[in-house]
Amino acid sequence: MSTLLVDNIGELVTNGIGADPLGIRRTAAVLVEEGQVAWVGPSAYAPAADRRIDVGGAAVLPGFVDSHAHLVFAGDRAAEFAARMAGEPYTGGGIRTTVGATRAATDGELRANVRRLRGEALRQGTTTMEIKSGYGLSVADEARSLRIAAESSSETTFLGAHVVPAEYADRPDDYVGLVCGPMLAAAAPHAKWIDVFCERGAFDVDHARAILACGQAVGLGVRLHANQLGPGPGVRLGVELGAASVDHCTYLSDADVDALAGTAHSDGFGTRTVATLLPGAEFSTRSPYPDARRLLDAGVTVALATDCNPGSSYTSSMPFCIALAVREMRMTPAEAVWAATAGGARALRRDDVGVLTPGARADLVVLDAPSYLHLAYRPGVPLIRQVIRNGVPQ
Ligand code: NIG
Ligand code: FE
Repeated sequence: MSTLLVDNIGELVTNGIGADPLGIRRTAAVLVEEGQVAWVGPSAYAPAADRRIDVGGAAVLPGFVDSHAHLVFAGDRAAEFAARMAGEPYTGGGIRTTVGATRAATDGELRANVRRLRGEALRQGTTTMEIKSGYGLSVADEARSLRIAAESSSETTFLGAHVVPAEYADRPDDYVGLVCGPMLAAAAPHAKWIDVFCERGAFDVDHARAILACGQAVGLGVRLHANQLGPGPGVRLGVELGAASVDHCTYLSDADVDALAGTAHSDGFGTRTVATLLPGAEFSTRSPYPDARRLLDAGVTVALATDCNPGSSYTSSMPFCIALAVREMRMTPAEAVWAATAGGARALRRDDVGVLTPGARADLVVLDAPSYLHLAYRPGVPLIRQVIRNGVPQ
């Protein structure tokens, strides 16, 4: 059984040890054994190991947990982005363009795109990444999207209810029947979660409730796209169904915030339903950013994720999202880093990632910087020096 010591860490973010939320240790070391964190402590007391990596006083943090990404697609929508930057609004209507390209792609092309984006994210420190379907929107195309997603992640989400595809445009009830029936049956073996885009122009609250309930009935966990483009009932529906996460949360009423706060665990562990904020989407659609401060002050657990997709947020960079959250969403750097690591883990109901405590998966990011603060302080700079995933240097 071989061991690895990551030593001479100037600032170690554990998200678990000590009183401050980031659980910071200085002049620390981490012992890795069999893909897990076996020991965390001062460098001076570090046990012997088969291999040693001396990070020379750099900051080390848990790998990022990106709990919201749409990687199974073909083509891009750069022209749509350019039109938006020239003043066009974002409506989600471009989803159907990507559906056309995705249906026309071969399995090999879709697989190559997922691997490309998963690799891109890994190089930027993302060691856990959720992957949604949602650009197939037929029984066969949703099933193959999830089969391909499952090759790259155990956190796979069935998003057959992304939009109503063109061929069902005038009979949405029939499409909901398809999603709940044969599509779910074909998708469920490859999925852990079910998601719905609950928004004007996509699925209304009754359709969303019906679809999510069908997913729950076959054992899928619930998450949903809610309150992205305007106020609406999505967030409260998520709370009603015990969703692990409600995502976007750009337009929230006081009742939405109260409903989320009402899902608090009794032990002060945060809320059972996490608000996952996706600032890459507001950046790329030139929209107002969600107010993270309002949620945090109400006691709501907040996660940050990329929403990586070819339409509203074509970034795989968690450091970019951290920088946006600090600059535009009233989060402190510490809150943003926690939300991008431990927060993402909560949004996926995982306790083995997003933390660096004994027993956790050994997912470590070594920064080219002395402190996690630099992730927001030095935006756009490639600060990820080394990534260790499952105990293996990448
Ligand atoms: O999360 N809002 C719905 N779905 C994606 C956008 C998909 C697209 O525009 O292709 C999102 O922003
Ligand atoms: Fe999304």
